[in-house]
This record gives sequence, C-alpha cells and structure tokens, in this order.
Amino acid sequence: MSPRNDKERPRSTLEAGTEKARPLVHQQSREIQPYGKIAKLPIALDEKVCAASADNLNQLLADTMTLRDLYKKHHWQVAGPTFYQLHLLFDKHYEEQSELVDAIAERIQLLGAISIAMAPDVAETTMISRPPRGREEAPQQISRLLEAHEILLQEARTMARQAAEQGDDGTNDLLVSEVIRRNELQVWFIAEHLVDVPVVRADRAASAGSR
Ligand SMILES: [Fe+2]
Repeated sequence: MSPRNDKERPRSTLEAGTEKARPLVHQQSREIQPYGKIAKLPIALDEKVCAASADNLNQLLADTMTLRDLYKKHHWQVAGPTFYQLHLLFDKHYEEQSELVDAIAERIQLLGAISIAMAPDVAETTMISRPPRGREEAPQQISRLLEAHEILLQEARTMARQAAEQGDDGTNDLLVSEVIRRNELQVWFIAEHLVDVPVVRADRAASAGSR
C-alpha cells in the first residue's frame, strides 16, 4: 500500500464541485409577461401606438410564416420538367421569407409586445388558407403562392399607412422597404412562370397577327 492511499480522499469537495456543474433542469416559473400586454421600452412612442403596430405585425407575422412554409412545401413537392429551377427558386424565396419572419418578430418584441411563434398560434391567426397535404401541379402551386402574396401585400400596405399616420416610422419602414418590396419581387419571379409562351418553337401565327 502506498503512503498516498493512507490519506483520506477529499470527498466532500468533489461532491460540491459536481453539484455546482450540474444543470438545473425541470425548472418552472410564471410568465414574466402575458401575451397581449405591453412592456414598453424607451423608444419615444406612445404605448397605444406600440400596441396597435404590434397587433398588426403579429397578423403579418402569421401570414409570413405561412407563406414561408408554403414555399418549403412546394420546394419539396414540385414535379415536372421545370422541377430543378422551381425547386431552387422556391427555396430561395423560403430563405427570404424566413428573414422577414425574424425582422417582423423582432420588431414586435422591441415595440414591447410578444410575437407569436408556434405553429398552432400561426394556424389560428393566418388569413392564408390551408393547402391540401398532397402534391399539386406546379401551376397550381404557383397560383396558390401568388394568392398568398396578394393577401400579404394588401395587409402590409394598409398597415404601413396606419403606422405612418401614427408616427411609427420604424414599422412603416420595415413594411415598405423590406416586406412590400421583397414580396412584390417574389411575385414577379414566380408569376412569369405562368406566362404561356412556347419553349422551343416560336408561335408564328401569333407573331404574324401582331404585325
Ligand atoms: Fe431542400
């Protein structure tokens, strides 16, 4: 037996150290802010203005999250000769809508309100109708996306005007510079896929008629 083993091990010190490093799991607490209540920040905007903007933005958030998910669904389920380009385009628009989701949600938080986040809350709130679970043809997918964009653009323009009238320039800027412009551009990129033009041989009858 070595002299080292004669010593008593500092067991209590080891146990204390282990306790300190152990994650405190299964914790529970009350909410620090109920949904629908404003915890106003010092941003020189009236609480009522913040609440009105946050209400509008939560509606827009639900619709943007739904449109974002619609793009991913179509990215996965698209079929046909334009599969590859639509597969990539739908995913690009999904990424851009995800960025808008984050910008809108964070604006709601900085206005002192709470942004909705979870799928059941989004489903309860969105104005965009639920698509079937099954696969659809690409023209139907694009039509569905265009209808969703139009719902979103219509409400975003109304909300932008309301924000401007109430002096909430930050919300107005987000809506105009990011949400409206980005959605308009995406509409152009997908709507052009529904223009019925020949792919290989020009329509000679149509070109003769236009002279
Ligand atoms: Fe993918």
